Amino acid sequence: MPDIYFKDSVYSSAADESVLDTLLRHNIAIPYGCRAGACQACILQADQSQIPEHCQQGLSAQYLKQDYFLACQCIPEQDMQIKPVDTQTQKINANVSEKFLFNERTLRLRLSCRLRWRAGQYITLWIDKTARCYSIASVAQLDPLIELHIRAYPTGAISSQLVNSIKVGDSLQIQGPLGSFVYRHDNAEQKLLLIGAGTGVAPLLGIIRDALHHQHTADIHLLAGDQTPISYAEKAFQELQNSTAQFSYQSDTVENIDTLLKAQFSTLRGQRIYICGGESFVQKIRKSCFMLGASPRDIITEEFINFSKND
Ligand code: FES
Repeated sequence: MPDIYFKDSVYSSAADESVLDTLLRHNIAIPYGCRAGACQACILQADQSQIPEHCQQGLSAQYLKQDYFLACQCIPEQDMQIKPVDTQTQKINANVSEKFLFNERTLRLRLSCRLRWRAGQYITLWIDKTARCYSIASVAQLDPLIELHIRAYPTGAISSQLVNSIKVGDSLQIQGPLGSFVYRHDNAEQKLLLIGAGTGVAPLLGIIRDALHHQHTADIHLLAGDQTPISYAEKAFQELQNSTAQFSYQSDTVENIDTLLKAQFSTLRGQRIYICGGESFVQKIRKSCFMLGASPRDIITEEFINFSKND
């Protein structure tokens, strides 16, 4: 198995083990978050010739030039000499401007910071050495603050702190924005269907408002799933529906969304679909949309990462 050389020590990797897992197994404390290639919390540096291709996906041109790679995605193919990266330089401060509980399990957090973003992208939010990704629900041209909808887990490494101990006025560190789950301007006359589960509706709300802001002319419909038939964001949907006849929505439990989709639409040919939620939800709904005639290039998805017990 390849060896990992890191800070004057050498660590043996196990079969199919990522660089991140090798270091953690040897009790080396390096930052990480999603373990899925999304948050970029686990960035390390190595000689380019030693970096497998697939573990630099999503990195900026500047990071590629510096031979950065994602440790959680890197299964070494040869011995690697790796160096830590000062992730501090990639973070900026964001002040907590507002906290609001939609209900006992969903928090709205509004942050003030100097950042350019597109609604639907996500940021990585840090507390100490732990990082989590959250999608952005607000539209930069319309809203002064970054808005995140956060599902609160009692033992969540980040969400429990955001709900219980972080106060308005506190400063947090964020990184990003990342991702391309955003409104696409190429066809204002194409009907939009957006389908979300849980806080997966947060980026969808941003994308809808961004589309309206960019004079999207076709109808826009939202299917929103939650743990109960009424979504935590019902009020926001109603306000949007009252503001324009172009937008409509239906909400139901997550389990019923697929049935609702098939009952509502006999065909999705020609429509653009945005889907956001947990992995199994997104995969199931994507398949249904495809079976209803949507073109694969018109199905745009964002999967939330399952942090299980830890968030
Ligand atoms: S932990 Fe590697 S990208 Fe998130």
